[in-house]
Amino acid sequence: ESGAGKTESVKLLMSHLAQIEHTRPSLNSCGTKEETSLGVSETVKRILDSNPLFESFGNAKTQRNNNSSRFGRLTQLHFDVEDPESTRDSDREVPICSLVGSSCTTYLIEKNRVVSHNKGERTYHIFYQLLAAPDQFKEEVWDGLKHATTDDFKYLSSSDYSLKEHEMDAKEWCLLQESMKIFELEGESLKTILRALCIILQLGNLTFEERCVEQTESSGGSIISSRDELESLSHLIGIDSEKLEISMTTRVMRTSNDECFVKLCPSAAKGGCDALAKEIYANVFDCLVAKINKHTKTSSTEEQLQHQGAENLHLDASKLKQVNVLDIFGFESFKINGFEQLCINYVNEKLQNKYVSDNFMIIQKEYLEEGIPMFDLSLVDNSDILKVIETRGGIFSYLSEECLLTTGNDRAFVYKAKSKLFNSSTLIKKKLHKPTEFGIHHFAGPVTYDADKFVERNRDKLPEDIIDCTRLSTNQLLRDHFQTMFTSLDEVTSSGLKKRTALLTGQTVLNKLRSQLKSLMESIDETRTRYVRCLKPNERMLPRLTDHVMMMRQLEYSGLVTAIAISRETFPSKLSHDLVRRRFECLLTGVISSRVLLRLEHPITSKKLTEKILQKLFCSVKEALSGKGNDNPYICGKTRAYFRPGALEFLEQKREKFVSSFAVR
Ligand SMILES: Nc1ncnc2c1ncn2[C@@H]1O[C@H](COP(=O)(O)OP(=O)(O)OP(=O)(O)O)[C@@H](O)[C@H]1O
Ligand SMILES: [Mg+2]
Repeated sequence: ESGAGKTESVKLLMSHLAQIEHTRPSLNSCGTKEETSLGVSETVKRILDSNPLFESFGNAKTQRNNNSSRFGRLTQLHFDVEDPESTRDSDREVPICSLVGSSCTTYLIEKNRVVSHNKGERTYHIFYQLLAAPDQFKEEVWDGLKHATTDDFKYLSSSDYSLKEHEMDAKEWCLLQESMKIFELEGESLKTILRALCIILQLGNLTFEERCVEQTESSGGSIISSRDELESLSHLIGIDSEKLEISMTTRVMRTSNDECFVKLCPSAAKGGCDALAKEIYANVFDCLVAKINKHTKTSSTEEQLQHQGAENLHLDASKLKQVNVLDIFGFESFKINGFEQLCINYVNEKLQNKYVSDNFMIIQKEYLEEGIPMFDLSLVDNSDILKVIETRGGIFSYLSEECLLTTGNDRAFVYKAKSKLFNSSTLIKKKLHKPTEFGIHHFAGPVTYDADKFVERNRDKLPEDIIDCTRLSTNQLLRDHFQTMFTSLDEVTSSGLKKRTALLTGQTVLNKLRSQLKSLMESIDETRTRYVRCLKPNERMLPRLTDHVMMMRQLEYSGLVTAIAISRETFPSKLSHDLVRRRFECLLTGVISSRVLLRLEHPITSKKLTEKILQKLFCSVKEALSGKGNDNPYICGKTRAYFRPGALEFLEQKREKFVSSFAVR
């Protein structure tokens, strides 16, 4: 659930892991290692200080969480771990290790939030924090910001912005400034980024109107009606206002040997303008992530010596160990759910699938190998849902198909998906649905989506004319990014084959997300996974209030109740046959002689022996322990004995009694 506490847990986890630093070895003046309790190193401080930056630029207020992460984040923490021999030599139980660097990968920043958000929500915190900065600073960034408030910008003004929120944002701004300095975000480099944000805000203030017939010989098309806003933008972005207007209100259509101008209607022109604002924000966010990664990366020994003195002289990159922390946006279900919710919920399905496979499939495989009865996985397994969403002939494939067609549209996508997946129980089809509506039975509950703008959002294509114009900006951030975009466009259009391949493998949002998820799953597969399951106590975001029904629902949907049920119905404890013999043989004195025991070393005979031992030990209490009457309290697999709830505890109690009878007062 969004707002359950994932990001807060990650922060706690990261600061705990950073505490390891306190016992790290350092170099004394003679150059030999010594263990001291040090303050937090620069690297660790930077890693922890990246959190406020990520939150300002990547989090926003939603109906479910005032500080909701609108992107996914995988943080790879690199540890320099003492080699096992040194640990053994110095009699330490745990090797000394220290956090020496980190790198972050982010997933799917919700670009659309930059240009629109639901009532009661906000766009990214950074915009409000910038407006809450002191006037003098604001003026230095851009004179249009002087005395400006959220009401002056259309992208922000729809939210009910209270004075309390403004005060909070002003405080956050002060803290953010400190964090930014750590990442060398100050002076001109900071102002370039902040000016890019102002350009976004100013783009939101442009209004488009239909062009009057008198204004031109040919009718149709649109003009930018907010002339003053256009002039301010032109000044800020450093591009001639006429050029800007043309790039936003017309499209150049090229055929193999000709080109013509198409005039855009106001809504299409506004769409292009919004697309530009979204692209700029995504670029600002990517630059920020790159900057953070640059300043927190694990430096090679030489660089380390130059930048941080000799404190990490012992660093050997090949011996570094990693702890990866993943914080991904929570499952979302609003009244109206759009393309972003579909992406977010798809990622959650993927992770749930991984959770099921880590926790249940592995046990199922083990049971199969041991030759003991299976349990029913269908209650927690969401593979069928994923199949309907992502495989060939699934929902995504119909959306991709529409995105490839020039006439592709949202209604056709929903129609195709509903008719082709007519028999699927995962896809919800209701008579009362609008032509663009459909639903999915997710593992966490049913969600209805409105596919309005799905094709456009998935294509996520910025018009070429706008790219061509924006690369002329005097803002370096924009100039560099749009020039790169323009060059790659040029490469694609100059080769027909490349163009076709680009269309087919298209960098649609879903394609990009899926390839990112593929590599995420691969890197998760290389590690041992631990899950921190966060539960949201109430819908109202209030402290000290627990809505039990809501908690129960989350436990059920997340598969935890089933997990416990499975574990109770099956065998929560297991011991190898050898261990059963060593631990409980003492309880059988007189029943089976140790001479017999010694002769039974082969695994098959071990199993037989375990069966014999357990049969004898449980003969009097079998029924009481089995719960359902007939089930055995234990079962013997090929290499281990598995116990039902309470069975192993029964044996342990018996053993404790037996052992304590030998204790001397
Ligand atoms: N351990 C905690 N102690 C106190 N408050 C908490 C804790 N965890 C969460 N909260 C409260 O809940 C809010 C939401 O938590 P958080 O931002 O971590 O949710 P999330 O699961 O990351 O949600 P999203 O998926 O929307 O990003 C926090 O801003 C805080 O007010
Ligand atoms: Mg979060």
